[in-house]
Amino acid sequence: MSETGTTPLAVIVLAAGQGTRMRSRLPKVLHPIGGRPLVGHVLATAQALAPVRIAVVVRHERDRVAEAVGRSTPEAVVVDQDEIPGTGRAVELGLAGLGDFAGDVLVLSGDVPLLEVATLEGLVATHRGRDAAVTLLSAVLADPTGYGRVLRDASGDVERIVEQKDATDHEAEVAEINAGVYVFRADALRRHLPDVGQANAQGEKYLTDVVGLARRSGERIAVGQAPDPAAALGVNDRVQLAEAARLLNARTVRRWQLAGASILDPAATWIDVDASLAPDVTVLPGSYILGATSIAAGAVIGPDTSLTDCEVGEDAVVRRTDATLAVIGPRASVGPFSYLRPGATLAAGAKVGTFVEVKNSQIGEDSKVPHLSYVGDTTIGRGVNLGAGAITANYDDVTKHRTEIGDEVHTGSHNVFVAPVRIGDGAKTGAGAVIRKDVPAGALALSVAPQRNIEGWVENNRPGTAAATAAENARTAQETGHGTQRQEG
Ligand code: UD1
Ligand code: CA
Repeated sequence: MSETGTTPLAVIVLAAGQGTRMRSRLPKVLHPIGGRPLVGHVLATAQALAPVRIAVVVRHERDRVAEAVGRSTPEAVVVDQDEIPGTGRAVELGLAGLGDFAGDVLVLSGDVPLLEVATLEGLVATHRGRDAAVTLLSAVLADPTGYGRVLRDASGDVERIVEQKDATDHEAEVAEINAGVYVFRADALRRHLPDVGQANAQGEKYLTDVVGLARRSGERIAVGQAPDPAAALGVNDRVQLAEAARLLNARTVRRWQLAGASILDPAATWIDVDASLAPDVTVLPGSYILGATSIAAGAVIGPDTSLTDCEVGEDAVVRRTDATLAVIGPRASVGPFSYLRPGATLAAGAKVGTFVEVKNSQIGEDSKVPHLSYVGDTTIGRGVNLGAGAITANYDDVTKHRTEIGDEVHTGSHNVFVAPVRIGDGAKTGAGAVIRKDVPAGALALSVAPQRNIEGWVENNRPGTAAATAAENARTAQETGHGTQRQEG
């Protein structure tokens, strides 16, 4: 229709409710799924429709909700609901917040996060195509418990919506539910909302009553059915929250699979909506790809790996690892059992191995920290090997200091680097060294006293013990020339 292009669209998002059934300190609409609050999903969908205005109605924990709205949708108008409860009152005030707006008003519930843009575009198109006063989105559910039911007359036209708590047993048998999403002509809303009362089981001003009022004044009511009934899911308690998270994740995993990522076990892989996976990424079970993590082509992630706001380069391998705000270069190898904290940056081909923690440190090209180490506030050049058990002592009880390790440095096992300290290019350190002073390029640093063996100490000081017997046997064998079969360690 020609109107489609000319009728302006505004959106009102309902986010003022308390969400009592969540039993939470956090307002319901701020509970996250897929790394984003419920209301953030609804706002993202609203934005995709490019409405002329978006109003968000808040009340419970209004500052926290308003702050989240401002972060995701700075252009939204935040409207405060007053002490009159109910979705009808929320829309009445939201509409006032839109000023003298004339056109179509799409009402979205802040707790219905899974509806897709195409579904809402379809709803708006139905509304305009049918020239309706009200168009509601419905879905037929196997278990409609808790939702408002769509009541139709003998000829199939919508008569009204009845809430679960107000429904007779007969009405409650209806499987067609109100998804809590509607398109109204602004003038129809303005006309009917003042007539909505609070005489119902919850003592609230129900938005759903507008449907019955419009019908009685002879206006046209249209219905769009949700193509995927599961997408109409409303989140009122933690069970529904988990279900919404699962459905969203299934959708996200499928999207990346179709884009070329191998995800072996979709149910055992969680990917936030803002993460991205290149083609030929492989994700093994038990992996969490969270926040704005991006993974380049050919990388292998998992099993049992959690990446939050990380960047993973091409063909990197990250196994059994927990990483946050880390940059893992191309062909780098991480894990198993590595912990990368914010600011850990691994250049191409670098390796962080078993039981290694790295924080705020750069590890250069092809450098390795293979075993049992803590590397914090450290710069490591290229071609370095830190021996097993390396510890950077970066904290002197007052401030953090840096350790700087040059190129091609190889350190002995079990070294402590007491920062601030520098190890020059090509230098080496002995096993067990405690490095407190700078090591010049090419030097060998030793800090452990030379070893002294006190012969016969065990037999003299621990006579009769198993150790003394073993020592005595070894001595006798050597003295009689029978010790040759003993292996060298
Ligand atoms: C509502 C509908 C119900 C529908 C269901 C779909 C009404 C009366 N009922 O029921 O027909 O099947 O959604 O999920 O509309 N809110 C406000 N201000 C308020 C009360 C609620 O902004 O005073 C907001 C809530 O924050 C929430 C949304 O409106 O985002 C829906 O409120 P909720 O109390 O969850 O309604 P339901 O009982 O689920
Ligand atoms: Ca709800």
